[in-house]
Amino acid sequence: MGWNTWNSFACSMNESVILEAAERIVSLGFKDLGYDYVVLDDCWSAGRNATGYLVPDAQKFPKGIADVADKIHSMGLKIGIYSSAGTMTCARYTGSLGYEEKDAAAWASWGIDYLKYDNCYNQGEEGTPKLSFDRYNAMGKALNATGRPILYSMCNWGVDGPWNFATTIANSWRTSGDLINVWDRPDVNCPCSELDGIDCKLPGYHCSIMNVVDKAAYYPSKAYSGAWNDLDMLEVGNGGLTDDEAISHFSLWAALKSPLLMTNVMTQIDSATLSILQNTAVLAVSQDPEASSAVRIWRYFVNGGEIQMYSGPLSGGDQVVVLLNSSPMPRDMNATLTDIFWDDGAEGTASQLQSAWEVYDLWAGRMNNGTAEGIIRGGNNASRPIDMAKLGGASKVYSQVPLPA
Ligand code: DGJ
Repeated sequence: MGWNTWNSFACSMNESVILEAAERIVSLGFKDLGYDYVVLDDCWSAGRNATGYLVPDAQKFPKGIADVADKIHSMGLKIGIYSSAGTMTCARYTGSLGYEEKDAAAWASWGIDYLKYDNCYNQGEEGTPKLSFDRYNAMGKALNATGRPILYSMCNWGVDGPWNFATTIANSWRTSGDLINVWDRPDVNCPCSELDGIDCKLPGYHCSIMNVVDKAAYYPSKAYSGAWNDLDMLEVGNGGLTDDEAISHFSLWAALKSPLLMTNVMTQIDSATLSILQNTAVLAVSQDPEASSAVRIWRYFVNGGEIQMYSGPLSGGDQVVVLLNSSPMPRDMNATLTDIFWDDGAEGTASQLQSAWEVYDLWAGRMNNGTAEGIIRGGNNASRPIDMAKLGGASKVYSQVPLPA
């Protein structure tokens, strides 16, 4: 969890942008909720010095990046940096291909805690899994050789199916091209490969939220602790989304166990954005120690859109359920206990289906105990539908089954 410069600042990032954001992360309470990485994305360097080490842009970082790292650390936060497994970064700054040891050593000496490693200017190697593996593995080894714990975030946009090999070399891997702040748009070209010459900031080379979610739903592997599918940064607070869409976006990123990296303008955050990004119940789902991604159990195409249901295990035998209404109309949605526990063995275990379940509404922030709506009964009723409300994708569960006497 944390914050990244890119989507709001791109190459206009500098020391004061970063420190201002870091101060807000602390003063607005984000740090205490676990958002503790502050990540400098592309555009920070001024190339290499005579001995081949990367140097920071002196205009953007007059006292160097080690100095920024010290300040970030003194606020109780961690600092991330960015490079590319290619000759240049996507914004055409110096890349790290062939310089892995030197770059990792420099970052470790500056006190860096996180690396986002992009895929631009990779000399055409990204189409071959072995070579992609080699490029990313080289940096993973170099980071480990520094002896400093550095979270390794692979950003190869889902190319080569990183979920098949990245678990052995990285802590997270991007699963698609860049997410933009649109809920759904049929003309969006996703994935964006962002190869030489293609400006992925242009509309048409980006992914909508629904594009990214639809990709994630097919990944054969699930996230586990220390190895995460990265669905890209959160667009919450960047405009372009209704509150319901922002709530749905955040709910899905939490249930699918994506990193939660904000990329908004921290000094202009509004109260709706704050309440979404700081929903402690949804954050608890994201950070649940079971660390297992929810899976999509079903999707149906309906007039003007689609509806989907996700379900996933949480620690202590709990379960998270997301009902996603991606259609223009409010809609009643149903799921059964066999739907909810489908992934646990075709149609759930006997104890799952025969239990009574208490239901917590993560967005209303209340337990529904003590009302007929609050208890889902299993047993013979396991296949009866449970009415779910129309909260624009957030989970809200009601039972049709009467309370036990
Ligand atoms: C492509 C990545 O996917 C983005 O998140 C961002 O890091 C840009 N490159 C920077 O050039």
